[in-house]
Amino acid sequence: KSLQGKDGDVIDCVDIYQQPAFDHPLLKNHTIQMESSSIPNIINGELYNTELSQSWHENGECPEGTIPIRRSRNDEHYAPHNTTPSVTADPNDDASSKESAVVYMNDGHYYGVHAALNVWAPALNDADYSVSQLWIFSGTSAEQNVIEAGWKVNYASKEPQLTIYWTSDGYSSTGCSNLNCPGFVQTSRKFALGASIRPVSSYMGNQFYIEITVYKNFTNWNLRVQNEELGYWPGTLFTNLAVSAEKVALGGEVSSSMPKDGHHTSAQMGSGHFPSEGIGKASFIRNLQYMDGDGKFNDAIEGLTTHATKPSCYDVILENNKNGVYGTHLYFGGPGYSATCP
Ligand SMILES: *[C@@H]1O[C@H](CO)[C@@H](O)[C@H](O)[C@H]1NC(C)=O
Ligand SMILES: *[C@@H]1O[C@H](CO)[C@@H](O)[C@H](O)[C@H]1NC(C)=O
Repeated sequence: KSLQGKDGDVIDCVDIYQQPAFDHPLLKNHTIQMESSSIPNIINGELYNTELSQSWHENGECPEGTIPIRRSRNDEHYAPHNTTPSVTADPNDDASSKESAVVYMNDGHYYGVHAALNVWAPALNDADYSVSQLWIFSGTSAEQNVIEAGWKVNYASKEPQLTIYWTSDGYSSTGCSNLNCPGFVQTSRKFALGASIRPVSSYMGNQFYIEITVYKNFTNWNLRVQNEELGYWPGTLFTNLAVSAEKVALGGEVSSSMPKDGHHTSAQMGSGHFPSEGIGKASFIRNLQYMDGDGKFNDAIEGLTTHATKPSCYDVILENNKNGVYGTHLYFGGPGYSATCP
């Protein structure tokens, strides 16, 4: 069965045991772990209230026992996806084609992370992609294990898409986005990875959120979107993430490999507005929480730092507000090429 949305995406409903994950040599005999009742609780989990939808939902749903897989389109241009926000990047290095503005959680042993990201449709203006997401890291260089999840606007899509990524060797030869290679095991039929999501927030208007939770469940890393358990990365994919994550990053990244006509790329990050504009205007990630070794979620308060590779173009502001409704939160983004970013 296939379903098509008005956005042109075609979604194939694929037998859950025929999904790409099972082409992975380590997952040949893998038994799918369907969700149980032991799902850890998020603090204030019901706050955001966004009914996230995808275009293909208008035309039905995938039958039980299948998962929705987005068919890739001919007009697609996949930018190389190496999205480690670099702590060593020289902010004055104009040759860099990637810029990021993130908050790091540096405090050691994270067994999960949760945040709500408001959704925007940044204009790319010929850049490759603009992403708003969380990164979970363990290890460094060739030993680096990374999980990513959030939303991303691609060169061809123009709309924010639900996106995930993984690698177990520092973005060298393992891993990929969504279900484009074996690895992630999807168990839910509610959302298709790589398909666009809505509603999108509007400037000084309604703010809509995607809630992302990535947490360790025994050996696997589970992904929850809103209140839906979408699937998991089997522990066998990883080495350094076998126990816990050392570091987490949240925020945005823009990648641009196109000529810039002597000036900075005009790709937008987040809402395309600077973080100093604040709520309803800037891109916003709220209620940062981490899961500890006892499976309990806590507000992220300690060990947070900010890093922007080029703050005159894309910046980030962190606010700790433990007792407020937004919890620990950050604003990030910018317009790219502008008076402050020549
Ligand atoms: C899968 O099961 C077969 C048959 O029991 C076995 O020969 C093979 O080694 C197993 N593969 C993995 C990756 O565990
Ligand atoms: C967690 O892992 C256990 C054991 O593998 C499994 O039975 C359970 O369904 C998992 N829970 C979720 C929420 O995925």
